[in-house]
Amino acid sequence: MPAPKKILIDCDPGIDDALAITLAHGCEALDLVGITTVGGNVSLDLTTANALKLREYLGFPAVPVVAGSAGALVISRIDAAEVHGFGGLGGAVLPEPRLNVNDGHAIDFIIDTLAASPGEISLTAVGPLTNIALAVRKEPRIVEWAREFVILGGSYTRGNRTPAAEFNIAADPEAAAIVFGAGWTVNQIGLDVSLTALATGPVLARMRDLGRLGGELLIPALEFYGMTTAHDGPAVHDALAIAYVADPSLFEFTPAVVDVETVGRFTSGMTVTDFNLHGRMPNANVARSIDVARFWELTLDSFARVSAQLP
Ligand code: BDR
Ligand code: CA
Repeated sequence: MPAPKKILIDCDPGIDDALAITLAHGCEALDLVGITTVGGNVSLDLTTANALKLREYLGFPAVPVVAGSAGALVISRIDAAEVHGFGGLGGAVLPEPRLNVNDGHAIDFIIDTLAASPGEISLTAVGPLTNIALAVRKEPRIVEWAREFVILGGSYTRGNRTPAAEFNIAADPEAAAIVFGAGWTVNQIGLDVSLTALATGPVLARMRDLGRLGGELLIPALEFYGMTTAHDGPAVHDALAIAYVADPSLFEFTPAVVDVETVGRFTSGMTVTDFNLHGRMPNANVARSIDVARFWELTLDSFARVSAQLP
């Protein structure tokens, strides 16, 4: 088996962020090297507290958790507490952590981690892109140092925060515009694909069998998440970005030019996606489909590994 890929996750836990972190920890193909937090689904204080709780509950105390930006670059902060609960993890109540947040700022942690291992770290952003934009501005060479860069965000057909905009882009459109214009290829997994990988009844049944992990984290979190969706089960958006790093062959992608709308009265935060390129160089690989069955096998296998080793 090849050496596990090193992954750094910038996130705003967040129900699906919590599942993404659980997947990254349990997946044999991945080596979780750090978590940075950003204000998003709930405030930075809460997203950081949730990351700290997850670190100890899931059992990776040596992995740094570093806090970052509380709010967007330009617009006022928005949140998604109505979707994730006021604490951010839905109905899941995890023990208070004993370890403190690691020193420093997320922006510097991202830069320093990538600088120390150029070409080795898969940088994965599953919240608003504020930290990534500021890191790129402070040290533009991170676009060369990242082994790859993947986001869960945007879409080419629809929004969820507004009819045009997905939450992570809507929460900081200016940051997203910087990130898409930074000179790297953004591997973008958007709502078009994430809304096809739902935690349906049979998937939830398998999670229920995962002992404390199922009963204390996965099910109470997803039952809350499910209350706000009109589908056949909750989507687990952020987990898809982690699955991409573990196994890119799960997805089909198309190169595209993606521009982020920042001034539209009704369309701010929209990812305007041109698959026809119109003579421009693509700045993104946009996910078009996922093998849902294989995604759930990878994810549930990883969850089972976490469940078996829960502290
Ligand atoms: C994205 O928005 C957030 O609410 C989720 O955590 C996910 O990152 C989905 O639109
Ligand atoms: Ca998120």
